[in-house]
Amino acid sequence: MNKRIVVGISGASGAVYARRLVRLLVAADVETHLVVSPLGQRLLHDELGMEGVDLNALAGRQVDGSATPAVIQHNWRDVGAAIASGSFLHDGMVIIPCSSNTLAAVATGSSQNLMHRAAHVTLKERRKLVLVHRETPLSLVDIRNMQAVTEAGAVVCPANPGFYLLPESIDELVDFVVARILDQLGVSHDLAVRWGEKSDVRSGQAGGTQ
Ligand SMILES: Cc1cc2nc3c(=O)[nH]c(=O)nc-3n(C[C@H](O)[C@H](O)[C@H](O)COP(=O)(O)O)c2cc1C
Repeated sequence: MNKRIVVGISGASGAVYARRLVRLLVAADVETHLVVSPLGQRLLHDELGMEGVDLNALAGRQVDGSATPAVIQHNWRDVGAAIASGSFLHDGMVIIPCSSNTLAAVATGSSQNLMHRAAHVTLKERRKLVLVHRETPLSLVDIRNMQAVTEAGAVVCPANPGFYLLPESIDELVDFVVARILDQLGVSHDLAVRWGEKSDVRSGQAGGTQ
């Protein structure tokens, strides 16, 4: 059976990370279950110019109807959707980008919407939960919430691209972050984002820090 991943998009800056991740999941034949908060929808509009949650635009190809692999959107209000149940088997959930608000909800186990509930269920079933938090600077509240979710088994994977591979475009910065998330989810990819893969870095032009 192909992999099945749940993707949450909350109202933090960085919609481009979500779009790139969904595209790579679809390219890797992953069945992708999507839940977008109202502020997540606003960020898709403000940062990507998207009207509503346009699954085909997110995936970069036709994914609605009977297309395979499918991208299935669930209503953020519907805490009775399939992904709210532990009996719905999946290979991990990622919230990308993850707002401090949603981080707090996950940290406290509050399930006021489907994204929170699906994350809570992912933790209780001891499945992989990756939170791509985006906010700066961090308050002590954020830091304590990160500690709480980490102790509960989640992986906080902040949207912090590295610069040691000498990126030349925003796309490369985005790929740096998204590649780490795919690694966490066990989804293979061929993004050239590993130390030693770029010949100019290998030959020492990066200044020797990594
Ligand atoms: C344009 C815009 C950008 C925002 N960026 C962030 C951000 O980067 N990080 C964050 O934690 N909140 C950010 N917020 C605030 C959240 O959207 C807000 O806390 C909201 O309640 C989050 O709801 P959600 O977690 O249900 O998506 C932003 C809001 C707007 C309108």
